[in-house]
Amino acid sequence: MAIKKQSIFHLTSNIFIFFVLIIAHAKTFPNVVDENQVHTYIVHVQMQKENEFLGDEERETWHRSFFPNTTLDSGEQRLVYSYREVISGFAARLTNQEVEAMKSLEGFIHAQQDEELSIATTYTPSFIGLSQRHGLWVDSFMGQGVIIGVIDDGIYPNHSSFKDSTVDTPMPPPPMKWKGKCQFRRKRYCNNKLIGAIAFQRGQSQPPRVPKKEGHGTHCAGIAAGSMVPDADVRGLAKGTASGVAPRAHLAIYQACTTTSCKESDVLKAMDQAIIDGVDVLSISLYNVPRPFYRDLMAIGAFSATRKGLVVCFVAANLGPDHSSIRNDEPWAITVGASSHDRKAKATVKLGDGTEIDGETGYQDNNFNATLPLIFPGALHNGTEGCRNDSFNNVDVKGKIVVCYNIGGAFTDLGVHVKNAGGAAMIVTSTILEGFTTFSDVHVLPAAHVDHQGLQRIVAYINSIPNPNATITFGGTVFGKRPSPTIPYFSSRGPSMLNGGILKPDIVGPGVNILSAWPFKPGPGPKSTSGSYFNFLSGTSMATPHLAGVAALLKSTHKNWSPAVIKSAIMTTADRLDLDLKPIIDDFTDDFNSTGRVPANLFALGAGQVNPQAANDPGLVYDLKPFNYIQYLCGLGYNDVNVSTIAKRQIQCANLVKINAENLNYPSISVTLDPKVKKNITRVLTNVVNGGTEVYHAMVEKPKGIISINVSPQKLRFSKLDQKRKFTVEFEVTGIPLSPW
Ligand SMILES: *[C@@H]1O[C@H](CO)[C@@H](O)[C@H](O)[C@H]1NC(C)=O
Ligand SMILES: *[C@@H]1O[C@H](CO)[C@@H](O)[C@H](O)[C@H]1NC(C)=O
Ligand SMILES: *[C@@H]1O[C@H](CO)[C@@H](O)[C@H](O)[C@H]1NC(C)=O
Ligand SMILES: *[C@@H]1O[C@H](CO)[C@@H](O)[C@H](O)[C@H]1NC(C)=O
Ligand SMILES: *[C@@H]1O[C@H](CO)[C@@H](O)[C@H](O)[C@H]1NC(C)=O
Ligand SMILES: *[C@@H]1O[C@H](CO)[C@@H](O)[C@H](O)[C@H]1NC(C)=O
Ligand SMILES: *[C@@H]1O[C@H](CO)[C@@H](O)[C@H](O)[C@H]1NC(C)=O
Ligand SMILES: *[C@@H]1O[C@H](CO)[C@@H](O)[C@H](O)[C@H]1NC(C)=O
Ligand SMILES: *[C@@H]1O[C@H](CO)[C@@H](O)[C@H](O)[C@H]1NC(C)=O
Repeated sequence: MAIKKQSIFHLTSNIFIFFVLIIAHAKTFPNVVDENQVHTYIVHVQMQKENEFLGDEERETWHRSFFPNTTLDSGEQRLVYSYREVISGFAARLTNQEVEAMKSLEGFIHAQQDEELSIATTYTPSFIGLSQRHGLWVDSFMGQGVIIGVIDDGIYPNHSSFKDSTVDTPMPPPPMKWKGKCQFRRKRYCNNKLIGAIAFQRGQSQPPRVPKKEGHGTHCAGIAAGSMVPDADVRGLAKGTASGVAPRAHLAIYQACTTTSCKESDVLKAMDQAIIDGVDVLSISLYNVPRPFYRDLMAIGAFSATRKGLVVCFVAANLGPDHSSIRNDEPWAITVGASSHDRKAKATVKLGDGTEIDGETGYQDNNFNATLPLIFPGALHNGTEGCRNDSFNNVDVKGKIVVCYNIGGAFTDLGVHVKNAGGAAMIVTSTILEGFTTFSDVHVLPAAHVDHQGLQRIVAYINSIPNPNATITFGGTVFGKRPSPTIPYFSSRGPSMLNGGILKPDIVGPGVNILSAWPFKPGPGPKSTSGSYFNFLSGTSMATPHLAGVAALLKSTHKNWSPAVIKSAIMTTADRLDLDLKPIIDDFTDDFNSTGRVPANLFALGAGQVNPQAANDPGLVYDLKPFNYIQYLCGLGYNDVNVSTIAKRQIQCANLVKINAENLNYPSISVTLDPKVKKNITRVLTNVVNGGTEVYHAMVEKPKGIISINVSPQKLRFSKLDQKRKFTVEFEVTGIPLSPW
């Protein structure tokens, strides 16, 4: 009874505050609005106490009280979005002066301009160890009952990957908790696979558009939860049954981007809606420029989502191989880097001197058998002239095989330029930064993408004789590429400059030459015999939905696992060795003279390559409660206002125990060490094994000679589910400091 009374008190007191604020706010706005100066701002305001008692309408009225209620001359509404779950605040079209005036209002915290975000399979589920006959796919019923939300540029719904059944078993209806709607204008696009679809654009929520010329979101959704499609292929390559990682999970599609633009305010609204709708796992292949978490709206949105129990998978971004190119590095999300797999679409370059160089291509032309003159128009300029549309003005490439360097833009565009200039075929080459990564893009003419070592051999041949020649042969789909997996050059790398040193990316998953759903048959090349609408794409964008799919499978087998437990299970069971049980190799190397292959370091690899089957039974996990992240934010040195902005409620750091980043109970440990100073780091393990006593022994693999590491206790015994045990790791630098990379 007492509690109920208190709630009523809060409710009335809220309404009271809210009227007072409206009156107080109404007078202060400037009258003249220069519409050229109007921008969309995202505004954080103080959360009303016990906000859950505020209905949507009251909340919106409270948000509207911060700006004039006039409409703009353009006819556009000022309020873009009133957010409910992701942040305490709204997006509105405002002038600078209006924002200035707002700053004096009670309840105002911060306003920032809306920004543009960057958008960053038959085979990959089985490559990461998922089988239709046994194991996690069977145990989880392929993710049945779990809802994966994909925030991207929409989906092409009339695709066999999004039909209502998998392995001829109809999908069950969505779970009771699902509150979202599938709003395609054509209702037949909606089914028990595609249970949600909505678009957000410039303040409007509307039925989704069907993207027909672009397929990023379609591809991502297919990777996460595409139904099984027999006889899928890309132009006859990689033929087999295409399947998402969680083929029986439901899909909720939030179209927050167009093919050309992706606004933070729309993405934030999509996250808001996904939380409200009851999504379990979010896959977001988008990123922004790095900034502290209290200014990073996606990080704040992800925090709210995580607190509500959603697992949020984010791209690490495609900005590698530079150090600290990592994005989305907040500890509450799963930050996903990319890895390659062992299937390739083979194309072999045969140089006139007999040298053979293996490469890849999605355009295979078995009728192409001519030996033709070989030309590298960019060579004089170290390749920097590439194969742009104007690179061939003074160069005759007609009937020749043209060697191209990519100097920005899509690899497939190079082929278009070569073809337009009359070239017969193309060899795309990787730059020194792109190293050993090659793509099987669907080019418009016979082509082979060779790695940087291949380029060096081609250049050596071209320089050795006056009239070099070559041919290309096509080897179709080949399995067993080695080494495998590797880390592609583009996968963004740590260390994070913002999160206090927590290792990111967390994990890597397949993201090179991934086959998934596509709105149309790719490539204008030779007619494909099959009608499959599939394409190969590469990027951490493709790795992220793989992890979303894995999270969905784990959510299905372990209904009560929190986002932190799911992440821990995925990270502590990841593979650090490749298929030949050697360290996973980085495609990027700055030393091409030796064998050229160096192991990927932890800033590229994170915990390693996802191993879903092992993640299903991690034994022990590192758990974290949402409040621990607040303690961590205080530990980062953020002030109360900034922590409150993220937490969406009043936090006073002085009144709680701060946690420094090193001691956050994260499934990886990173420390900074001063010479000769001992440092202790603690972690708490939770037993997730039901039944029996298990004893775990600590094993340390340490860098040679320069550091001492002591774990105590050496042994931990667990006998009950949910039992917690603490251990301490003592570090000491005993020699010269480690190189930072
Ligand atoms: C703006 O607010 C005034 C005073 O509260 C009210 O009379 C008027 O109808 C409002 N206009 C709009 C467009 O809501
Ligand atoms: C949808 O797909 C079916 C079968 O693949 C095809 O016949 C139909 O034309 C497609 N409809 C649209 C609107 O694309
Ligand atoms: C191609 O070049 C090689 C030398 O590298 C030469 O021996 C051969 O005759 C050439 N073939 C053709 C078809 O021009
Ligand atoms: C090369 O291709 C042409 C046209 O497809 C074909 O007629 C010819 O027999 C082929 N030559 C060889 C050596 O395969
Ligand atoms: C090509 O690279 C060499 C060696 O790095 C350099 O000396 C030269 O100036 C470069 N040429 C061009 C056109 O950039
Ligand atoms: C070449 O590309 C540039 C940049 O995309 C474009 O502005 C220009 O019109 C193109 N020129 C031709 C001849 O296609
Ligand atoms: C690599 O080899 C080239 C030529 O073989 C040589 O010029 C260069 O100095 C070597 N670089 C390194 C880092 O050893
Ligand atoms: C907190 O936010 C304010 C702006 O609201 C910013 O100027 C300040 O640098 C931040 N301080 C810390 C310690 O994060
Ligand atoms: C670290 O912890 C161990 C075990 O609890 C303890 O023996 C040691 O003194 C501690 N070292 C430091 C530097 O606090």
